[in-house]
Amino acid sequence: MTRRLLVIGIGAGAPGHLTLQAIEAINRAEVFFVFDKGEASSELVEAREAILAAHRRAPWRLAWTQSPKRRAEARVHLDGRDAAAPGPAAEYRAGVAHWHAERAARLAARIEAELPEDGVGAMLVWGDPALYDSTLRILAGVRAVLALDVEVIPGISAVQALTSAHGLVLNEVGEKVTFTTGRRVLKDFSHEGTLVVMLDDGTGLEALIAREAEEAAAGAPPLAIWWGAYLGMKDELLMSGPLAEVGPEILRLRAQARAARGWIMDVWLVRTCSIKSRAIFSY
Ligand SMILES: C[S@@+](CC[C@H](N)C(=O)[O-])C[C@H]1O[C@@H](n2cnc3c(N)ncnc32)[C@H](O)[C@@H]1O
Repeated sequence: MTRRLLVIGIGAGAPGHLTLQAIEAINRAEVFFVFDKGEASSELVEAREAILAAHRRAPWRLAWTQSPKRRAEARVHLDGRDAAAPGPAAEYRAGVAHWHAERAARLAARIEAELPEDGVGAMLVWGDPALYDSTLRILAGVRAVLALDVEVIPGISAVQALTSAHGLVLNEVGEKVTFTTGRRVLKDFSHEGTLVVMLDDGTGLEALIAREAEEAAAGAPPLAIWWGAYLGMKDELLMSGPLAEVGPEILRLRAQARAARGWIMDVWLVRTCSIKSRAIFSY
């Protein structure tokens, strides 16, 4: 008999993002493991509770695990430097690895204490568990010390929420798609294909706007951006158009929204696009 943990993708914020498979899994679990990260937004914690309230047919139990604090080197800004090179990037990776190991040790102890040997537990993961989420990495650490079967239930990611909100095809015909973070925008940007950017605090977008202005002066083709914040949630924000024109507006709107609400989650994609009229972008 082995304990089983369901890693359930719950979508990017809209209650309707949950799949039938996710709802079935929510009703199969006997306890839900949650990291107490002192999350910036209690709205995100409330969103998870609302999902349980809406879809769980029986009462549920939460088992909280205190998340260890991230050490300073796990928060260092990479400035687009090579993450494999020694220096701040390597320290960042080592810092994150150490933080994940600590979280795995605490979670393993909690699972062992809360779940009987034939029990089924679950973790609710924002969006899809495969995209910029550490849950599966942490569970690999748990499995190093505790016998545990892991079952992953896919979810609608913020990227899908973005493309559907704009009525957009993610890739251009036969072209590549690159996923990256705000920290790595300048390193990963090229005029080929589509660049999708998550986890940006606005500095990645600001840097790309400045880079485009320099490149445009040297004759490079223009870029277009499709941006979305609070996708699937109340007060969803969408904007799209030529980067040179709408990029600065997005930065202003982003700063206003963040100040008003206390937090923001946004995702954007850019690619070379010769359409100059902003009206064509609105959907
Ligand atoms: C830690 S990652 C988690 C991604 C998640 N696993 C997914 O599949 O979408 C958090 C980032 O996802 C994006 N994100 C998640 N939910 C979002 C939403 N509702 N609206 C806009 N961006 C969102 C933002 O880029 C945010 O910085």
